[in-house]
Amino acid sequence: MKNILVTGGAGFIGANFVHHMLNKYPDYHIVVYDKLTYAANLNNLADVSDDPRYAFVRGDICDPERVEETIKKYDIDTIVNFAAESHVDRSIMNPDAFIKTDVYGTYVLLEAARKLGLERYHQISTDEVYGHIPAGYSSVETDPVAPRSPYAASKASADLLVHSYFITYNLPVTITRGANNIGPYQYPEKVVPLFVTNALEGKPLPVYGDGRQMRDYQWVGDHCEGIDLVLHQGEMGEVYNVGTGQEIENLRMVEILLDELGASRDLIQFVEDRPGHDRRYSLNVDKLKSLGWQPQHDCEAAIRRTVRWYVENEWWWRPIKEGEFREYYEKQYGSRKVLKTGLDG
Ligand code: NAD
Ligand code: DAU
Repeated sequence: MKNILVTGGAGFIGANFVHHMLNKYPDYHIVVYDKLTYAANLNNLADVSDDPRYAFVRGDICDPERVEETIKKYDIDTIVNFAAESHVDRSIMNPDAFIKTDVYGTYVLLEAARKLGLERYHQISTDEVYGHIPAGYSSVETDPVAPRSPYAASKASADLLVHSYFITYNLPVTITRGANNIGPYQYPEKVVPLFVTNALEGKPLPVYGDGRQMRDYQWVGDHCEGIDLVLHQGEMGEVYNVGTGQEIENLRMVEILLDELGASRDLIQFVEDRPGHDRRYSLNVDKLKSLGWQPQHDCEAAIRRTVRWYVENEWWWRPIKEGEFREYYEKQYGSRKVLKTGLDG
């Protein structure tokens, strides 16, 4: 492994992964291949843009010619596929792009990897493929997929395709299924950056339903360490869960976030729930731990560190909240029913 194609590398986790790999492996070359959708931001990669081990190609993973041409041009031996439409709420409004990019795009990359005989294909997947998980249980990698949103279904479909290429063509593949990532460069449509930046702007924090849904909020750097380990020590054809292994209620996340900001709980606004909202995700992460991985942050530490990053990096998020985001916010929240404001009453 020396020349890695990081698809979707101008997005949140992809950009963090690029930083992680360039810092850790002086001999690796990284090519970011990204369509630059609304979620991408070249500011996420600004501090590596002059690194001679890094290159950027604008391209769509659904475009087989451009994908193959890029692999040949940069002598790529490994693909790590982060490229996806990634927001559940947008998949509910309009699933089309999710099916195209997350399913067909994955197929295009797999075909290229097979045709050009790449050393490795790694798929970035999600805990959402397991669906809602009842209390007292945590998903293991051998559990069947049971996705419940168009986003989760598109990611589960991609996982099945990746597995089929391992079985049918013996393509050397691995899959990681990550819990909710938080940290630098996350587009402020996702709950933690949305709530921090809304609070900093004095706007309400729209909590869906009763706010008792459970998520495993993990520090993006811990996720990147996990992916790195699987790339180097994972077994071919295998899936690895990546998370802290200890989920918390959304309301607890909001309390920690407001506490770190020193902001009022009166900003909380309970609003109409997300349709089909999965109540709980929970990952068993023993398989990855058995390779020697250990997350460095629990959910609370990850939330507090994330809040501090957004406080210190207004230059990054303020321009984003002006553009396409405004239109999206109006569509998503403009006519959403408000159920209750604040924690009391
Ligand atoms: P993101 O939305 O921040 O970034 C996605 C990136 O993919 C963007 O840069 C975008 O331009 C690019 N992209 C989209 N369509 C493309 C296409 N057709 N061709 C090329 N590039 C395209 O997403 P993220 O939160 O960084 O998630 C990255 C990956 O990790 C996704 O596969 C997602 O499903 C998965 N994942 C995310 C989380 C999370 O909490 N954010 C958790 C687990 C897994
Ligand atoms: O679990 C991994 C997944 O985490 C990833 O695969 C997805 O790409 C990523 O977007 C994320 O999905 P979620 O739907 O869990 O993330 P989101 O930040 O949208 O929501 C987190 C929780 O917060 C969820 O229970 C819904 C709730 N929420 C979200 C928003 C945007 C609110 O209460 N209010 C909101 O405004």
